Amino acid sequence: MKKEVVVNDKVFEVFKTRKQIQKKVKKIAKEINVLHTYNSTEIVFISILNGSFVFTADLCRELNFLPEMQFIKVKSYKGTKTTGKIEEIIGLTSSIKNKTVYIIEDIIDTGLTISDLYTKLLDFEPEEINIVSFLYKPDNYKGINLEIMPGFIIPNNFVLGYGMDYNEIGRNLKDLYVLKE
Ligand code: IMP
Ligand code: MG
Repeated sequence: MKKEVVVNDKVFEVFKTRKQIQKKVKKIAKEINVLHTYNSTEIVFISILNGSFVFTADLCRELNFLPEMQFIKVKSYKGTKTTGKIEEIIGLTSSIKNKTVYIIEDIIDTGLTISDLYTKLLDFEPEEINIVSFLYKPDNYKGINLEIMPGFIIPNNFVLGYGMDYNEIGRNLKDLYVLKE
């Protein structure tokens, strides 16, 4: 494992090791597994690309049942400020009506994206929507009141790796890094 990673002009240091991450992913899977049996049906995992691809791959392979897997992208309205308002949900290929949905996120920061996505998915009349996020920054949360299943609860610092990027670089790092101040 590299102790430090440099991307462009920014220096990042190890924050959570691969081992700590694996342990956390297993813990989250366990929490979900107790809610279902191998024969449970009508369960959909919706992974939010791009950042969640690594977490989703690890988490779904720890499950004791066989959910339907969907991968979506959200297109946000462009502006000078992040509004978190979603213009379009891209890639949802089957109905989630009356199904138990798990939204799989890499990180919830301001919470604006997940808040708008949650509200929009409710229009499709799922049975319920659960939100699983590998990382959660509660200090920065400005979204609606949602119940979140978090992996690591972290302070308000920029992180890199395990799916998350800095200008699209660093997503493939096995460990999680944090910006060195
Ligand atoms: P928000 O919760 O609406 O602010 O948006 C969350 C999204 O912003 C995440 O899905 C990430 O793509 C991105 N993001 C937020 N914080 C970080 C970070 O520390 N590192 C990398 N990406 C981040
Ligand atoms: Mg994301």
